[in-house]
Amino acid sequence: MGQRRRIKLARTSNPTVEGAGVRLRRAFGNSDARDLDPFLLLDDFRSRNPSDFLAGFPWHPHRGIETITYMLEGTVEHQDSIGNRGVLGAGDLQWMTAGGGILHQEMPGNRPALEGFQLWANLPASDKMMDPRYQDIASEDVPVVVHDGIAVRVMAGSAFGEEGPVRDVVIDPEYLDVAVPPGSEFRHETKRGHTVGAYVFDGAGDFTGTDGGLEEFGDTTLLVFDDGDEIRVRTGKAPVRFILFSGRPLNEPIAWAGPIVMNTRAELQQAFDDLDKGSFVRPGSQPD
Ligand code: CO
Repeated sequence: MGQRRRIKLARTSNPTVEGAGVRLRRAFGNSDARDLDPFLLLDDFRSRNPSDFLAGFPWHPHRGIETITYMLEGTVEHQDSIGNRGVLGAGDLQWMTAGGGILHQEMPGNRPALEGFQLWANLPASDKMMDPRYQDIASEDVPVVVHDGIAVRVMAGSAFGEEGPVRDVVIDPEYLDVAVPPGSEFRHETKRGHTVGAYVFDGAGDFTGTDGGLEEFGDTTLLVFDDGDEIRVRTGKAPVRFILFSGRPLNEPIAWAGPIVMNTRAELQQAFDDLDKGSFVRPGSQPD
């Protein structure tokens, strides 16, 4: 298959507080933008304690990025400034392209548990001000392909010949939820030059790409890979489950202020001016 990717970075996510006081774990963020380009942030909001998450994420703006929410358990009700409203449940995926500007809120339901991830992908300069767009994919519309006991939910990109439902995203992304049983090996082709990362959320597996004894990485570990043509994950006595994401790097300057990510400080200032003037959400982006 070609060159196997090796691990460039391995570390566990860090507890942090977001939104109106949601306790979650951040796998990567602002200081890691160079290693993760085109991805900006990954939050792991799994909790079985409602006091961790019920405060939610009240009204806030986004510009210049895409936010990708993948739910494992519980619900999140979202609502935005251009009239979209819906509830995300277990297995659902929302690929939101904020483009030129959206104001939204994301409020967890009053359930015993909330589990899922929010990934942020950057937009290139040419698309930062595009009209906002949603790809809301219901759980039953995400294909699950099983091969030698390995189960892959294909949200974007492809695995074992099955293609995911997310379309027309500028970074040419892959987003998979992979479950590998004990004593198995998962091999997956990756595009040369694309950034590839994994985040483990159950069990443990060897992501080193080497042939020696098993070196296992467990729950809450972020792995970022060197360039190459494939990744390989081996398991021993335990299964492993992880999300795998990849995308084409943008190699552009990043000017980042909270939920707004642009190329220059002047563009950030413009965003804040637009928020002050009430012109952040452009009339052209309202639905008919
Ligand atoms: Co948001």
